[in-house]
Amino acid sequence: MAGKIIKAPRGTQDILGTDSYKWQFVERLALENAGLFGFSEMRTPTFEQMDLFKRSVGDTTDVVQKEMYEVRAEKGKDLYGLKPEGTAGAVRSAIENNLLKGALPLKVCYVTPCFRHERPQAGRLREFHQFGVEMFGAQSPSADVEVICVARELFQMIGLKQVMLNINSIGCPTCRAEYHKALTEYFRQYQDKLCTTCLERLDKNPMRILDCKSTVCSEIAKGAPVVLDYLCDDCKEHFEGVKKRLDALGIEYKIDPTIVRGLDYYTKTVFEFISGDLGAQATVCGGGRYDGLVKQMGGDPTPALGFAVGLERLLLIMEAQGIEIPKPETCELFIASMGEAANIKACELTNALRSEGFYAECDLMNRSVKAQMKYANKIGAKYTMVLGESELESGIAKLKEMETGTEREVDFRADLAQALYDITIERATEDLAEEFGGEALASAMGMKR
Ligand code: HAM
Repeated sequence: MAGKIIKAPRGTQDILGTDSYKWQFVERLALENAGLFGFSEMRTPTFEQMDLFKRSVGDTTDVVQKEMYEVRAEKGKDLYGLKPEGTAGAVRSAIENNLLKGALPLKVCYVTPCFRHERPQAGRLREFHQFGVEMFGAQSPSADVEVICVARELFQMIGLKQVMLNINSIGCPTCRAEYHKALTEYFRQYQDKLCTTCLERLDKNPMRILDCKSTVCSEIAKGAPVVLDYLCDDCKEHFEGVKKRLDALGIEYKIDPTIVRGLDYYTKTVFEFISGDLGAQATVCGGGRYDGLVKQMGGDPTPALGFAVGLERLLLIMEAQGIEIPKPETCELFIASMGEAANIKACELTNALRSEGFYAECDLMNRSVKAQMKYANKIGAKYTMVLGESELESGIAKLKEMETGTEREVDFRADLAQALYDITIERATEDLAEEFGGEALASAMGMKR
């Protein structure tokens, strides 16, 4: 009896060969761009002690209270959580590996899967991927602006249009105390309407009510006092410093006093990049300062900040805006064969071509030559060559260009890779001549006709 097909969990997606090159493209660009700012890649585990997330992301946040995936080994007793974001692991790793005792600022970046048990919809998954950066040790507003620039530069390199930067400051523990008082007073008027989670948050962490996803709570939150009105002098000065630098660099932004971010560790500057091409899930990138987190997690007091870009959302915007990602090269040469001896020769030649850097294939299915050619067509092979008894004897085979059908003879006992190089260069020259005109090309190459 055939087994029942098992489907992927809801809110997850397979990234198939037809799309993986898009991921490789944005991930490479993101890491390379961050490298230009001095960020080096860090890889941390997919699961961590549950307490790490409770103490950093915060145990009154939606992420920890409602969206965590808990993991327990069948035989172990420890409770772990699948990472809902990348910052907590990066902070843990920086402290545990004594990275904060080295040269500061420490700049790390990562690409990581994240897990949140949210209601799936376009741009919102249960397993998604983040590219993020974290900077440790820098207090100055210049650091805030540099981190913002990393994200902005990435979006510009990709060619994204209309991605808006919104910033806010949510203050430090000093100004937060006053603000919490004002928020509690405000929300208490609506305590019979708030959801049960927010009712609990009213005394523990009223700021979390501001990003509750329930429609009633978010409607009430619209009239709540805004944190910008409660900043202490130090936080005000820092925010002014950030704005001044953004202005000086000609970076456009909007101040959005409603940004509070959904994670507990933030202090001072918070920011989001928003796109009109994402529907309801408009935030493609979120970040900010978290000056108290390193100390809270057991390290020496160290200011820090960072951001994360949701890669699924980034790719959705790119698709909506018709941004083309270079497709991977297709097969250069498919070597078809008739009979065992020819098949062995085909394998040998294919391997030799691969070690020269060519994408080459041969028959692995014992198919007829006709079926092999059909396959070569399907995979978009640029050239094909058929080896049979007579070719083995003479060492000469016909190399067929699939697009034009033109054939030329090659001696495959000599250097087949060299022959392919020559043909590739010939083709490229022809293409250039077609694009720019033969005369222009010749003069550009300093040649006389
Ligand atoms: P976050 O705003 O929770 O921040 O997530 C960052 C980005 O991840 C979002 O802007 C969004 O693009 C993407 N994202 C979040 N949840 C989902 C989801 N369910 N499905 C698809 N994409 C999603 C953080 O995670 C912080 N750790 C960022 C940070 C780093 N702050 C400082 N350093």
